[in-house]
Order: sequence, then structure tokens, then C-alpha cells
Amino acid sequence: MPLSPAPVSPGQWAHKHLLGLQSLTAEEITVILRQAAEFKRLASIGEVKLASLNGLTIGNLFFEPSTRTKTSFSLAAKRLGADVVDFTASGSSLSKGETFIDTARNIEAMGVQQMVVRHSSSGAPHLLARHLKAGVLNAGDGTHEHPTQGLLDIFTIREHRPDLKGLTVTLVGDILHSRVARSNIWGLTKLGARVIVCGPATLLPPYIERLGVEANDNLDEVLPETDCINLLRIQSERQRSAFFPSLYEYTHFYGLNAERMKRAKPNLLILAPGPINRGVELTADVADGKGSLILDQVTNGLFVRMACLYLCCKAGRPNRQAAGR
Ligand code: CP
Repeated sequence: MPLSPAPVSPGQWAHKHLLGLQSLTAEEITVILRQAAEFKRLASIGEVKLASLNGLTIGNLFFEPSTRTKTSFSLAAKRLGADVVDFTASGSSLSKGETFIDTARNIEAMGVQQMVVRHSSSGAPHLLARHLKAGVLNAGDGTHEHPTQGLLDIFTIREHRPDLKGLTVTLVGDILHSRVARSNIWGLTKLGARVIVCGPATLLPPYIERLGVEANDNLDEVLPETDCINLLRIQSERQRSAFFPSLYEYTHFYGLNAERMKRAKPNLLILAPGPINRGVELTADVADGKGSLILDQVTNGLFVRMACLYLCCKAGRPNRQAAGR
């Protein structure tokens, strides 16, 4: 039985921060996915609790709501033996005028070595990375990136289709405001997938093709050639004007339902980052039916976040001996 996760060779991963997938190479993305697979394998043989981060403290700083990301980062840190400090903006001293950076520096002063940060402002984790000694993991920043979501989406796809080269992945929905879309685009294209972004023309950013993707506002046209569909939520909280007449029209043209599924490949992989809005981006029978990997994504998110914490903490404290189980 292994006493610790498979070692990552020096040079394979050298970052204490994980701020986005845009700046990573395909090899670095693959290192994280391999490490996550190793954690999943260890869990499958009963090696659930590891001691790789014993003695370290992780700060879970959420300035925006979260169910999946916050919970799984917290569980991931505990599975690796670290202590966790959970911070949520509501009820904090932000309401007394304390700044974002001062808040994080005060939490760091309690002995936190690695911060997990979600914020409504694009670039907020990058700002902290410049002001803290701690490593920073981006848990979603504004409309910019959500790298661990992109990684867990890719991990889940690869469990079914190990080679992404030539695979057609269609991202459907609010591409303009979606940080999940951007992290998926960076990660998937670096690993060789063909990516189509699809949604109302008003929600497709101008010049999005420059990121190496195809854009199409007709889901019925692209569905027959799609191997994997990722249904993104309409980000109402980030929309400052009306981008389509009503949710009814959105669902009519872009919602995945049994009727529309008749146009899809029989083994279509169905992803959605959650939270899902049943009856909007997909119907309940599709969300809970054959081909839906929505809860697999959540399960895999734990192992992906364990891998990210493990690798970044190790890179931030290279002389620290990794403990065994
Ligand atoms: N997918 C995702 O980020 O979910 P939460 O907002 O619940 O963390």
C-alpha cells in the first residue's frame, strides 16, 4: 500500500499559486490531472485520509456564495491532514470598512500558508498573490476564471474519453459572463479538444474565436457533432442588461430536453458545473438521466482540489518533508 501520493518530479509543478489555466502548459495541466487520479485511486482502496499536509493551515476565503467549491476545498484540505480556516464575507468585519487585502493579511497572520479565494471581482486572487506570502488558489474570480472547475470538468470527460484530441466539446449558455467557460476553453484547447461556444449572440463575446474556439448561436446545428456538452448557468447576478427576451426564449432555443436529445449522439456526455436550474438550461429528466455526469463532476472536484492543494503547498514549501499516511 502506498504511504503517500505518487511523487511529482521536481520541475513538473513549481507554482505555489493556481490563478488560472491560461498560464499553464498542457504538461502542467496533465500533472494536476494525474495527481487527482492518484488521489481518487487511493480513495478507492480505502486510503481516504492522508497526512501530506499535516501541520499546514488552509484559508478558505469566500467573498461570494458557494456550495460545491467551498465544501470540496474544505474537505480536500482535511483529507490531506491540513487545518482549515473558513471565512465568508457575510458577518465579517468587511461591513466595518476593512479592506479585502487587510482581511486576507489578517487571516494570513494567524499562520495560514495557502489561501483559497473566491471573489466577484476578476483579478482579486491575483491581487492577493502580490500582497501575501501565502500561496493563492483561485476558486472563481468574477467573469475571469474558475480553474479548478475547468480541471474537474476535463478530469470527468477524460474518465470517459481519455484522449481529448479531436473530441468536440460544446459549451452552451452565458459565455460572456462565465468564468467556467474561460477555464474550460483554456484547458480543453491546450489538451487538443475542438471547442464550440454556443448561446444567444448577445452572450457570445466578440472575437471569442481568437481563443481558438468556434462560435455558433444555433444549438440544434452543433448538437449532432458534439461529443460532450457543458451546460452553463445564466449568470443573472453578473448581467447588467437584458441579453434575451425571457428565460422562456432561452430555454426554447438552448435548453437540453428529451426532444432536443434526439438530435444528439447516442453517447453524448452531459456536464453542468452547478448550480443547475432545472427546467432552464436542462430538464430534470436529462439532468438525472443516462449520460449525465453532473454528480461525477462533484465527486471528482474533491480529488482535483486535493491535487491542487497538494501541489501548490508542496511548491510553496519545497523543503518540507511530505508526511506519510
Ligand atoms: N460550480 C461551482 O462553482 O459551484 P459553487 O458556486 O456552488 O461553488
